[in-house]
Amino acid sequence: MKIGILTGGGDCPGLNSVIRAIVRKAISQDDEVIGIRYGWKGLIEKDYIKLTLSSVSGILPKGGTVLGTSRTNPYKKEGGPEAAKANFKALGLDALITIGGEDTLGVATKLCKEGLGVVGVPKTIDNDLGATDFTFGFDTAVNIVMECIDRLHTTAESHNRIMVVEVMGRHTGWIATYAGIAGGADYILVPEIPIDVEEVCESLKKRHERGKNFSIVVVSEGGSFKDEDLFTQEKKLDEFGHVRLGGIGHTLGKIIETKTGYETRVTVLGHIQRGGSPTAFDRVLGTRYGVKAYELVKAAKFSRMVSLKGNDIVDVPLKEATAALKTLDLKLYEIAKIFFG
Ligand code: F6P
Repeated sequence: MKIGILTGGGDCPGLNSVIRAIVRKAISQDDEVIGIRYGWKGLIEKDYIKLTLSSVSGILPKGGTVLGTSRTNPYKKEGGPEAAKANFKALGLDALITIGGEDTLGVATKLCKEGLGVVGVPKTIDNDLGATDFTFGFDTAVNIVMECIDRLHTTAESHNRIMVVEVMGRHTGWIATYAGIAGGADYILVPEIPIDVEEVCESLKKRHERGKNFSIVVVSEGGSFKDEDLFTQEKKLDEFGHVRLGGIGHTLGKIIETKTGYETRVTVLGHIQRGGSPTAFDRVLGTRYGVKAYELVKAAKFSRMVSLKGNDIVDVPLKEATAALKTLDLKLYEIAKIFFG
């Protein structure tokens, strides 16, 4: 068989583990693999590389994607879907494994309906894809944020300050809540629950009245204040209709300082959360996903996505991945709340 691999959307640690697993398994079965460069852009432009054992040698611990990525949407380009379908044929592909989040897998779902043999692999640090318990990249992001919170504790304590940490999470508070619990945050603010600044400040004041001289507040970039719009860096939309988020931490920091009287500093972690080497969990999950994706291709089980359910790797209909956003488990948030204030 000739199999194509494509990585689309925001990069995340663990992508190379998936690519390596597919290539190693496929070559061991005498199949041929090519890597489509820069996501859907590469399929439209027929930009690809041959993937061999030597091209995947040493990539397991590397962050990012050796194939490159982009947020290109073929359905927003004149003749995009037609070019994608024509190049799939021209390249002699039997199947395409697409590794991506809601946007990339949404396009994959549409192309499947138009007859392409596609298998999906769920990826995003945000962990907000439906039909899987976890996406790879999330665990690495959580560990990075946890380490940053640990570091912010020592400087916060030395200066008697409140530290606001803004983390990624476009629609959901998975990173904020997992990392906040792991790092011992004193308040966590997530997109699923509009921010009540009075409540946050009261809680921080109570904490300081009981003798604590510092606090850590974690806020998701996708959070919003009660009755107010999302905080965005600019109004321009990308090809999937997303705005660039970021900045809520600074506004929140100012409000907290004014309302509580405690000196406050803000750290926006940004793309630090997506960079660098994947954790062992993400390397293993990526490897298991890659092997399963190859097996689905071999069995000609297309329009499916690999998924983690409990501790098992299973396959689910691709369209389920993007049918509904997987919002934060509020039972987990209830646990986080025990430690507020
Ligand atoms: O989708 C993952 C993500 O990291 C979001 O958390 C964030 O809002 C977005 O990507 C940032 O995208 P970009 O790298 O294009 O700025």
